[in-house]
Amino acid sequence: MWIRNFDGFVTKSGVFSVGAVDQASALLADALPEHLSGDVADLGAGWGYLSSRILSREAVTKLDIVEADFFSLDCAKQNVIDPRAAFHWADATVWNGSYDAVVMNPPFHTSRDGDPELGRAFISAAKRCLKSKGSLYLVANRHLPYETALEQCFAKVLELPGNSRFKLFHASRPKRK
Ligand SMILES: C[S@@+](CC[C@H](N)C(=O)[O-])C[C@H]1O[C@@H](n2cnc3c(N)ncnc32)[C@H](O)[C@@H]1O
Repeated sequence: MWIRNFDGFVTKSGVFSVGAVDQASALLADALPEHLSGDVADLGAGWGYLSSRILSREAVTKLDIVEADFFSLDCAKQNVIDPRAAFHWADATVWNGSYDAVVMNPPFHTSRDGDPELGRAFISAAKRCLKSKGSLYLVANRHLPYETALEQCFAKVLELPGNSRFKLFHASRPKRK
């Protein structure tokens, strides 16, 4: 059954952040640069909130929306009506592409326990999929240890202003070896 958020988006029970925008994603969306442009991927796109904010940038030419959960992707198809968007029911950790930017709020649970390995696999996928001048924009819960993975995958890692719960990163110059 569809659930309509107060802000007009639809979700379904069982998807991530049902009925409301996730606070970490809202923080990341507000931090995205105005000049975001070119071909972009939203890895682990959920019901499409970040995707809709990415597509508010007119210079974005294409957005690949990659999500492993069928029902979340179904919601994203309702929430993101834009000819630049392509929807992929797929595992982001093995995704391939060639992007100017990758945006993500990576999953950190495979069961009841936190599992930073999944987030690290997303970071590695971003490295693989980015053009040499491409940028990764990532938000994570403060306690998740992604710094080492980011530094292993990218020559330049900047922590952007976050808040007490979430940290934000801009990583660029993906390492090729
Ligand atoms: C923390 S949520 C963020 C969702 C969305 N970006 C948002 O802003 O609301 C992570 C998302 O990653 C998805 N996910 C988990 N494992 C995945 C995988 N291997 N490949 C693609 N998506 C995955 C989950 O279903 C979930 O929707």
